[in-house]
Amino acid sequence: MNDGSIKIDAQDHVLEIQPVSRDELNAVLDVYRQCEDFLALGPMAEASMEMVMKDIEISKKQGGIFCGIYTADGEMIGVIDYVPKNHQGNPQAAFLSLLMIAAPFRNQGIGKTVVEAVESEIRNDASINTIFSGVQINNPQAIRFWRRAGYSIISEPILHSDQTVAVDLRKDFPPDRG
Ligand SMILES: CC(C)(COP(=O)(O)OP(=O)(O)OC[C@H]1O[C@@H](n2cnc3c(N)ncnc32)[C@H](O)[C@@H]1OP(=O)(O)O)[C@@H](O)C(=O)NCCC(=O)NCCS
Repeated sequence: MNDGSIKIDAQDHVLEIQPVSRDELNAVLDVYRQCEDFLALGPMAEASMEMVMKDIEISKKQGGIFCGIYTADGEMIGVIDYVPKNHQGNPQAAFLSLLMIAAPFRNQGIGKTVVEAVESEIRNDASINTIFSGVQINNPQAIRFWRRAGYSIISEPILHSDQTVAVDLRKDFPPDRG
């Protein structure tokens, strides 16, 4: 891996995914504010800098890479946070912990393109054969999105400490990559 940046040059989208730096926290907060419809499904409907910093801190503790999703002209339009390996001590497992696309940029195929690019980056490590994720059961749009991306629901609804109820997801990759 290089500096963790992922360049996407797909037919419809030229994007870049890059670990966020300290001086970009306000841009991250702007993305969170444009995702308050999603935050309202959880314990804290209003975006705040405290929430952003807490999420980045948790990501660091879990071995995650907290990234911004940028357009070609450098505007941050979303965030994705992922643990590239050693998810819960499993050297063959990765974890997608957070994906948020700012409301004006949804339903254009960006989420799908970003997930595919991050999966491909994760799979540069040939030992990774499973990517886990999770989704709140009160977010049917996201459940449909993850299903379409090839993720299966592998648990009953689980009540988490933040009072959200979510199901675990997983996607397996064939061991033989040719
Ligand atoms: C869930 C989320 C990440 C999906 O991202 P997205 O960029 O909107 O996803 P896509 O555009 O790739 O796909 C969404 C839908 O748009 C449709 N779509 C894709 N390209 C399209 C296009 N060019 N024109 C019209 N529709 C399109 C897809 O078919 C898909 O339909 P579906 O909902 O029936 O599956 C986004 O809605 C989001 O950030 N939501 C708020 C936060 C959230 O819920 N995060 C997930 C938590 S687990």
